[in-house]
Amino acid sequence: MSEGGKQRDRERLVKALRDNLRRRKASPGEIVEPQAGDGAAAQAGGRAEAAIVKRRSAQDGKETVVDRIKITGGAKLNGTIPISGAKNAALPLMIASLLTPYTLELENVPRLADVQTLLRILANHGVDYAVNGKRPGEKAETGQTLRLTAASIVDTTAPYELVSKMRAGFWVIAPLLARLGEARVSLPGGCAIGTRPVDLLIMALERLGAAIEIEAGYVVAKAPHGLKGAEIVFPKVTVGGTHTALMGAVTAEGTSVIRNAAREPEVTDLARCLVSMGARIEGAGSSTITVHGVAALSGARHAVLPDRIETGTYAMAAAMAGGDVLLEGARPDLLQSVLDAIAQAGAEISVTNEGVRVRRNGEGLSPVDITTNPFPGFPTDLQAQFMALMSRARGTSVIRETIFENRFMHVQELARLGARIRLDGDAAYVEGVERLNGAPVMATDLRASVSLVIGALAAEGETLINRVYHLDRGFEALESKLSRCGAQIERLSG
Ligand code: EPZ
Repeated sequence: MSEGGKQRDRERLVKALRDNLRRRKASPGEIVEPQAGDGAAAQAGGRAEAAIVKRRSAQDGKETVVDRIKITGGAKLNGTIPISGAKNAALPLMIASLLTPYTLELENVPRLADVQTLLRILANHGVDYAVNGKRPGEKAETGQTLRLTAASIVDTTAPYELVSKMRAGFWVIAPLLARLGEARVSLPGGCAIGTRPVDLLIMALERLGAAIEIEAGYVVAKAPHGLKGAEIVFPKVTVGGTHTALMGAVTAEGTSVIRNAAREPEVTDLARCLVSMGARIEGAGSSTITVHGVAALSGARHAVLPDRIETGTYAMAAAMAGGDVLLEGARPDLLQSVLDAIAQAGAEISVTNEGVRVRRNGEGLSPVDITTNPFPGFPTDLQAQFMALMSRARGTSVIRETIFENRFMHVQELARLGARIRLDGDAAYVEGVERLNGAPVMATDLRASVSLVIGALAAEGETLINRVYHLDRGFEALESKLSRCGAQIERLSG
């Protein structure tokens, strides 16, 4: 071979080695970017996609940090709002893809920042994924279809940089442990709504036979001989704990019984999907779930259930602003306690073949007391929104938060709109006022931010909501859904 030929050969070899290293060593913060002519990266669907996600999220990050939402209050809402797939069901379902080397196809996945963050976490473990493009005639709000394939898991560490962005990322610990016998997952840390520990998730995995240690902010879990079926008794209802126990138990050896399990519809949805993948689960949706471990799971196709929190939010928005709104695709059985409270407040709720219809014309709102509780009680994720609604009621209502100890961040922001709210321990006393007034406000967490949207819809004048990236984590196409019903709402970028 000529000198030139040898040189070209060496260069090719060095490039191949570099590419290989780049692919293997890419830390989550620097997910592999496909290069021009990088065939292998293009084939590695998930990794290549991850690069796109990174660019998009970097872009989103830049945009959303400065994005604000402007709402001019006073318009009634009339029309149809399509309800998206549930974020809190989509996330554990996506994580369940780690349990099998076969493809899990999830339909009706909402387009949300949290879904993108989780895709990055999964891609870091080696999950390849594809997002189906839009089909002819599909609306902007039509959920996406994700195909997730964890053919081989290349990394059992879920790093701080990713898990700190989204608490649900911690839940990868269970399928990683079940499938590979080890996992190293960053502690998720605190959050604006309370301390949110993971002790019960750890307890569940220990019951299943895992040895767990905390090392430098990471939970290191090991089960070299596999997980074993066990009785897991939760001292308090935990959604994430129940997801973790389920994903740990499905392929454990023997039978597990989960007591005081969360009955949330998102838990039932995960169980349904796991059953489609070949798991043997009885009692999901009740407080005792029995899981008979199976040797392995297959792929499946599953449609994410409609978002009950989004449904309740728009139902309250319609009750607040007045008008007539059809929440298309909503399932009333997922939020009966909420619909009852809204009806008691004075809105008319009817169930049609297409979804749930909410009307309020002229009449004022009555005060209604609520206490948050695990399902089927009033969900904590709708407490802030209901408080906004009650801020215009004719009288005082008492709103009690029993799930999280610090979920009243919205109170001071609602007060900026003129709401009169007094806090006393876990209770908020909301004295309804005749009129709210637009003001600049700050979104603090996901559900708190949308309570400000509800307040703003009925406030006189203009409200500017800052830090709307919180909203983008959990509400798909919020502005377009509301504006097509007549709300005066727009996003200001830059
Ligand atoms: C899920 O969080 C939801 N998140 C939350 O929604 C929701 O508010 C919450 O359930 C309650 O319904 C997702 O599904 C992604 P928990 P999770 O474990 O699972 C305590 C949103 O806005 N606890 O049911 O983290 C905990 O502190 C989010 O979409 C322990 O003490 O909640 C809380 O008081 C916010 N130790 C109670 O249990 C533990 O190890 C219930 O929390 C775990 C939880």
